[in-house]
Amino acid sequence: MNWIAIGSPADIPLRGARCVVTPKGRVAVFRTAEEQFFAVEDRCPHKGGPLSQGIVHGAAVTCPLHGWVISLETGRALGADEGAVRTIPLKLEGDRLFLALDALAIEAA
Ligand code: FES
Repeated sequence: MNWIAIGSPADIPLRGARCVVTPKGRVAVFRTAEEQFFAVEDRCPHKGGPLSQGIVHGAAVTCPLHGWVISLETGRALGADEGAVRTIPLKLEGDRLFLALDALAIEAA
């Protein structure tokens, strides 16, 4: 797996997210209150809303457009809604975060 560095955890607000523009599209990188990090496509499965601008609670985000709640662990919509975004492998090494973008390319092929 090819890992690309996307910066430091401190670049991401606590209980917030950062949008990383990659050759494979926009990726939302989240930092939870428990200092867990997750990456998913920055496209809500409902109508493409920017999940990186949503509200983070626990290990989930509420889409800013119509309020769907998406699990950051599985990418699936929670509750009564149906749909999912791709999750992207993310790792923390020292003070740097890395994304495995090739995983996204394989899934998108
Ligand atoms: S686009 Fe996200 S809830 Fe509608």
